[in-house]
Amino acid sequence: MAVLEVDKLKMYYSTREGDVRAVDDVSFTLEKGTTLGIAGESGSGKSSLAYTLMKLLPQNGSIRGGKIIIAGVDVSDMPEGEVRSKVRWKHISLVPQSAMNALNPVFKVGEQISEAILVHQDTDPDIAIEKSKQMLELVGIDPRRYDSYPHELSGGMRQRAMIAMALVLNPDIIVADEPTTALDVIVQAQIIQLLKDLKRTLSMSLVLITHDLSLVAEMSDMVIIFYAGQIVEYGSSEALFVTPAHPYTFGLIHAFPNLKGPKTKLISIPGSPPDLVAPPSGCRFNPRCQFATQICREVEPELRSLNGGRLVRCHHAEEVLAKSVR
Ligand SMILES: Nc1ncnc2c1ncn2[C@@H]1O[C@H](COP(=O)(O)OP(=O)(O)OP(=O)(O)O)[C@@H](O)[C@H]1O
Ligand SMILES: [Mg+2]
Repeated sequence: MAVLEVDKLKMYYSTREGDVRAVDDVSFTLEKGTTLGIAGESGSGKSSLAYTLMKLLPQNGSIRGGKIIIAGVDVSDMPEGEVRSKVRWKHISLVPQSAMNALNPVFKVGEQISEAILVHQDTDPDIAIEKSKQMLELVGIDPRRYDSYPHELSGGMRQRAMIAMALVLNPDIIVADEPTTALDVIVQAQIIQLLKDLKRTLSMSLVLITHDLSLVAEMSDMVIIFYAGQIVEYGSSEALFVTPAHPYTFGLIHAFPNLKGPKTKLISIPGSPPDLVAPPSGCRFNPRCQFATQICREVEPELRSLNGGRLVRCHHAEEVLAKSVR
């Protein structure tokens, strides 16, 4: 069963230079109880997509088309009041990028979690406190820490507290934006284990956004490779990591000869990501692509299906796949 369906979604930021096409015709489905990994380099629009799914956009950001269907309901044109009262936190929650620095330093951690409950649900304050303590325990924090201030907790504990906050109204979907970046390796492993445990015990569905390819490979059922506001490849984790069919995925994987080996965080292939106001004509990846030919500079490729239910946005996908399989 699909808990989230995104169809041809577009979200642009208006700027003086023109529209920043941060989310540009994005479609995917998240099945209940599964993890969808979204990987892409810095500036490709991952966080923009996360905030668009939550419908939490800055003043200059707006949805320009497409649908977001959560629990069967299209929320893309739903008024903000209704999204706040019916959808956000109850069906879909976000653990934002740099979450561990998102807590307010002047309030106790537990109070901030209780506040999140009280804002979104008509609940007795004592019940909210009780629920917050349960949530702290669930994420592996001693409930007596309810009265601690953020600075009294380690980075890993603050990250756990933010995960607890995202979970307080039992959402079906958690969007975790770079949940392990900025944490040291041991704490990263603990947070990953926590997410795995929560997924199992709460039968939660997870959208995991990261530029850490080894994390995506470890956690995801389905994977999206994101480039310049678009999906360039979408398929099962196995298909993408074993036999990539988009030159960008191919380049990323070949930059990491051993995904299961020591973690290397940086996604780096030669060249730099395109300007999202005026992306290159034809294929957005063509200036960096070792497979590019004339057609790639002239005709924008569609996302099309290739064998085994995988989707690829490339004129030369068959050639890339043949090279991967070899
Ligand atoms: N409010 C805004 N106004 C205009 N442009 C914006 C705004 N917020 C983000 N952008 C631009 O949108 C693009 C996508 O940014 P986004 O933060 O979504 O990328 P990201 O993939 O999450 O990157 P990172 O890996 O660094 O977190 C970037 O070019 C960024 O500069
Ligand atoms: Mg980001």
